[in-house]
Amino acid sequence: MNLNDCYNYNDFRKLAKKNLPAPIFHYIDGGSDDETTLKRNTESFLKCDLVPNILASVGEPDLSTNVFGKKIDMPIFLSPVAMQRLFHHEGDKASARAAEKFGTFYSMSTMSTSSIEEISNISGGPKMFQIYIHKIKGLTDNLIDRCKSSGFNAMCLTVDTVTAGNRERDHRWGFTTPPKLTLKSILSFMKRPKWTLNYLSHEKFQLANVVHFTKKGSSIAKGVMEYINEQYDPAMSWKDAEYCIKRWGGPFAIKGVMSVDDAKRALEIGASAILLSNHGGRQLDGSRSPFDQLPAIADAVAGKLEIILDGGVRRGTHVLKALSLGATACSFGKGFLFALGAGGQKGVETILQRMHDEIKRDMILLGCKNIKELSKNNIVFR
Ligand code: FNR
Ligand code: LAC
Repeated sequence: MNLNDCYNYNDFRKLAKKNLPAPIFHYIDGGSDDETTLKRNTESFLKCDLVPNILASVGEPDLSTNVFGKKIDMPIFLSPVAMQRLFHHEGDKASARAAEKFGTFYSMSTMSTSSIEEISNISGGPKMFQIYIHKIKGLTDNLIDRCKSSGFNAMCLTVDTVTAGNRERDHRWGFTTPPKLTLKSILSFMKRPKWTLNYLSHEKFQLANVVHFTKKGSSIAKGVMEYINEQYDPAMSWKDAEYCIKRWGGPFAIKGVMSVDDAKRALEIGASAILLSNHGGRQLDGSRSPFDQLPAIADAVAGKLEIILDGGVRRGTHVLKALSLGATACSFGKGFLFALGAGGQKGVETILQRMHDEIKRDMILLGCKNIKELSKNNIVFR
């Protein structure tokens, strides 16, 4: 099996599973507790059907939309994701280059293995930075200021990870940052010699944006749940969000908003967008899916706040359903990560191409010339 055999999410997932050591594959693939929210995120898209309009003379549909003050060429972009260097030795560089090629946003996690400066040097494409507020004083200001001088276009603050979700697969496989050779994990690394050789022969693994503040997670191995619980500030509040918005002064999203009241409050404190998200089912298990929550959120804030939906997006039709119900755009995590694990930059380009082709084809089949034409009229709930 190679990249040319990958037509959809399941294919990329299968190839990534073949390439990656088990602890790393399961870190991407897993959710919290019983993984009910993880599963529901995708299942929710099945609760409604698309109804096409015929003879609409669509020709070439226009897939572009505006997010964070930037025109992007397709209505889906890359979610912020930690430690991409583990999924392919080029890590964030591969993702950022692929996103630039497709004219869409690359997002950088605070826990990225490339630095803000490194990525801004290699990519002129649209870039968003995602903040995790650490207990360490001065780190948040440092990140915001560096993003300003490096030409990032937008920021988001993740608010659903004040304590770590219960990721039992990470315990089971002994996943740590950086990966540690233990009795549990050694066999899984030996079974993936190509990955192991690439990992050892390329630049040193480090959490490039925080390593100047703490060695934990870079040269001191930590489980991800342990890192989150030790390092992130559990007392984070609306005041901190407001502070970040003001210090940044540009397009800003709160990531992890799920309730209508919180969406309204995000608007009040000056956010320009919300990321309607449950962290891909990795945090509060039993949490509602973003797609199920979208109609209520759109009723309350559409037109006043940009609504980006992530969680469970696997197909072009999922994106079109979300846009029809009021989302401005979607983003995805696992979809592009498995593609990165399957084939590096080429892999991410392949999944973006597949998504682009699906969205385009399905807009033609729906009878929609552009994103603005998508509306509730395209959707019927069962
Ligand atoms: C994430 N996500 C995430 N979110 C964030 O704000 N900061 C981060 O560092 C990470 N890291 C991370 C690692 C991995 C391996 C995954 C799978 C996800 C969550 C991510 O941004 C996004 O919300 C979800 O991935 C969306 O759900 P899907 O597309 O994975 O179903
Ligand atoms: C995760 C964190 C790092 O989901 O956001 O693994």
